Amino acid sequence: MSILFRGGAVATEIETKIADLLVIGDKITTIGVDLPVLDAKVVDCDGLILLPGGVEPHAHFSLPMFDTISSDNHFTGHRAAAFGGTTTVMDFTSQSPGDSLQQSIDLSRSKAAEMAAVDYSFHVNVTDFSDNIEREIPRLPSQGLTTLKVFTAYNGRLRISNEEISKVLHIATENGMLVMIHIEDGDEIDSLVERALSDGYTAPIWHARTRPAHGEALAGRRAIEIAESSKASLYIVHITTAGLLNQINSGRKRGVSVMSETCPQYLFFTEEDLLKPDGANWVCSPPLRTVDDNEALWQGLSDGSIQTVGTDHCPFFADGETAIEYDGQQLTIPGKELGKSDFTRIPNGLPSIEHRMSLLWTFGVSAGKLSVQRFVELTATNPARIFGLYPRKGTLLPGSDADIILWDPSRKHTIGVTSSHMRTDHELWEGFEVEGYPVQVYLRGCLLVDGDKWLGKAGFGQFLHRQTNAQVL
Ligand code: URP
Ligand code: ZN
Ligand code: ZN
Repeated sequence: MSILFRGGAVATEIETKIADLLVIGDKITTIGVDLPVLDAKVVDCDGLILLPGGVEPHAHFSLPMFDTISSDNHFTGHRAAAFGGTTTVMDFTSQSPGDSLQQSIDLSRSKAAEMAAVDYSFHVNVTDFSDNIEREIPRLPSQGLTTLKVFTAYNGRLRISNEEISKVLHIATENGMLVMIHIEDGDEIDSLVERALSDGYTAPIWHARTRPAHGEALAGRRAIEIAESSKASLYIVHITTAGLLNQINSGRKRGVSVMSETCPQYLFFTEEDLLKPDGANWVCSPPLRTVDDNEALWQGLSDGSIQTVGTDHCPFFADGETAIEYDGQQLTIPGKELGKSDFTRIPNGLPSIEHRMSLLWTFGVSAGKLSVQRFVELTATNPARIFGLYPRKGTLLPGSDADIILWDPSRKHTIGVTSSHMRTDHELWEGFEVEGYPVQVYLRGCLLVDGDKWLGKAGFGQFLHRQTNAQVL
C-alpha cells in the first residue's frame, strides 16, 4: 500500500519546505516536488504541516506506587499519546529488591506486548545495585536496551549511592549505553519530611516544601561532577529549576556531556497550585516550582541548553473512590485520596502525555519562543537521537519509518477531562485553549488517529531495538 501526501509543509529538524511525501508500506521512500501518483492513495495536505511522529522519552504506565498503580496502562497511555501526535513512547522497567534487571525487563515486556498501540521501548531502572547487576548490564544492549536510570532520591526504595552511580556510569560508558538520572537530594528530603510530619504538617503543599529547589541544584552539581570524573555522558530527567539548569550549563561549558529534559508541568504550573483545594493533583516529584523557574526552563528550551521535552506522564485518579466511565465501563483505581491525611502517601505523578505537542506548539511556537525546527527537535528528533532511534524515528527522511503527523496549525482545541483520552478523572490544563493539533496520525504508514476517531489497535505497537553509542547533544 502506498500513500502520497500531496503538497504539505514538510517540517524536520533542518527545515520546512512544501513538498510531496511518498510512503510505500511502512517507510517513507521519497520527498520531492510533483511526485507521480502511480497506484498511491493521495492525501491532500494543502494548509497542513507534516511533522515526524512525536517521540516521548519519559512515561510511566501501570507503575506501582504506594498502595496503587499509575492509572494508564500501555494501551490507554499509548492511545492518548497518539491522539496528541506521539507515536513512540519510552517508559521504565521497575527492579524489585534482590531481583535481576532481566526479571524486570521480562515483566515489562510481557505486560506491554499485547497492549502497545504505538512503538515503544524501556529504560532500565537500576535501584538495587550489586556485583550481579554489574555483570548483567553489558548483556542489555543485545536486547536493544541501551539506557539505564538511577535515582538520588527515594531513599531506601529507589536510590543507590554515589559510589554505585559512579560504577553504573563506568559500565554504561564501556558498553555504549547512556545513564539517565532523577535528581533530588534524598537525605535532605527525608529529614525535612520527618520534621514536617512531627510538627503536624500533612497538607499537599508540604510535598513541595520538603523537596526544596536548592536540593535539586546541589544534587545535580554532585551528579555532574561524578559524570565528569567518570568521563561519562549523563541525561538528567525532568529538570525543574533555574538552579539545576545553571549547573548543567556550567558543566556543558567545561565540556561535560550532560543533557537534560524538562516537562510541560514545569513550564506552566508552580508550587502555589499545591495550595488549591485539589492540591494533591499537583503532587509530582520533583515538585512544581516558581514562575521564575518556569521562565528559565522556557529560555533553556529556546536557547538549546535543554535537549528534550518529555512528560513524565504518571497519572493517578484524583478520587479513586468514585467510579468514572472509561471505554464504556465503570472504573475506580485508588489515587490521590490515599494521601488525604498525609502528604507522603499521595501518589506522585501527573497526567500529561496527550498534551505535550499541542502545549509546546501553542505556547512555544505560536508564542514566538520556539522555531518550528526547535519544536521538532525537542519533541521528536532529539529524543530519537539521544536514545538510539534516529533516523528510523524522529525525522522525515527517505528510509525513516512513516510515522507522520498531519498537523493543522489552525485547529483549535479546548483541553478538558471530557475530551481527554488519558485514563484519569481530572485534567490539569482544564480549559486551556490550544491552537495547532493533529488531524491525522500515522504509525509506520498505518492511520491510527483520524480527527477524533481511533483506528489503532492494541498489539500494533512494536518493541524497538535501540542502538548503542547514540548521539550526545
Ligand atoms: O512524580 C513523579 N514524577 N512520578 C513518577 C516517578 C518519577 O520519579 O519519575
Ligand atoms: Zn523521576
Ligand atoms: Zn518519571
